[in-house]
Amino acid sequence: MALRFEILGRFNRARAARLTLPHFVCQTPLFMPVGTQGTIKGLTTNQLEEIGCQIILGNTYHLALRPTSELIDELGGLHKFMNWPRALLTDSGGFQMVSLLHLADITEKGVTFQSPVDGKPMLLTPEESIQIQNRIGADIIMALDDVVKTTITGPRIEEAMYRTLRWIDRCIAAHKRPNEQNLFGIVQGGLDPVLRDVCVRHLVERNLPGYAIGGLAGGEDKDSFWRVVALCTALLPEDKPRYVMGVGYPLDIVVCSALGADMYDCVYPTRTARFGTALVPEGVLKLKHKAMAEDTRPIDPTCACMVCKNYTRAYIHCLVTKDAMGSQLLSYHNLYYMMQFPKGDVPEWVCNAMEVAGIKISSCCASFSS
Ligand code: GUN
Ligand code: ZN
Repeated sequence: MALRFEILGRFNRARAARLTLPHFVCQTPLFMPVGTQGTIKGLTTNQLEEIGCQIILGNTYHLALRPTSELIDELGGLHKFMNWPRALLTDSGGFQMVSLLHLADITEKGVTFQSPVDGKPMLLTPEESIQIQNRIGADIIMALDDVVKTTITGPRIEEAMYRTLRWIDRCIAAHKRPNEQNLFGIVQGGLDPVLRDVCVRHLVERNLPGYAIGGLAGGEDKDSFWRVVALCTALLPEDKPRYVMGVGYPLDIVVCSALGADMYDCVYPTRTARFGTALVPEGVLKLKHKAMAEDTRPIDPTCACMVCKNYTRAYIHCLVTKDAMGSQLLSYHNLYYMMQFPKGDVPEWVCNAMEVAGIKISSCCASFSS
């Protein structure tokens, strides 16, 4: 295993931990910005360090197409290629294909899809996904999983869960750098508690360095989503990191952390920035709104970020639809916000934030743990 996970504090099911990865010592709970093409849109790696970002996410699918994993490998790995000294995580690629390409098709062999480069049919197998991720060189790599939308029902959910379990063994066998890269397994099973239970138990038998909870935040209601997280975190080992994939909104991160999850990733803070929206403690602030035109306050008067120290809402309002600088400043602030809000004494912030959200932490844990 190429990681250490030490729990530093607990509050009910919530925990604060030190996650030591090959390239960085991280403090959890943590949020990982998504850098699809080996970049977080609009921010330099120096700015990401300045914001306090500990680990960022890259996508195997995008990087494999361009510049290709062979070239990244030749040039010394993704850390060096993008000039990012801290931790990296790559997703396995299948989820991106299925969500981006309508032509993707899943069989026992792997995910078949039409190449967006030349339209030729291509196949991503579990072995290939791991080989590509071994070349890219991230601190954490993800198993190829069979992901189905939580909003569908029927035997396809069960098929995807069992296929994900068969594929994990192919991923483990293909992984050539277990001393430098941590392979995480992904729990699937839709909203079915029995399937989730079976999936967690089989994955835990593999004694992987960490576990992800997948297939969520795809349109199901919050109650179902939180129940699945609560069930999985209750069954996953205490001494391994737990990563809820594709989550999320600040409220979801608070609730999932209260339920014992540690890691998150989402395009939301940077995507919403490009649409002119800032994250603030009260919720969101729409900088495009004409009420911002003459507002000389910073985005968030309580925020200590470079943007809030230097620029007014009026200025960002003026830029936001006209110049890339507008979305860059908003992305900077939004990621700073995502890095700050889970910091400090974690049990206390979880408690405070839950209270702000109107959720009683003790009753939440009680009602979701049974
Ligand atoms: N990103 C968001 N959800 C998922 C998932 O279920 N699997 C994978 N591989 N990536 C994801
Ligand atoms: Zn700010």
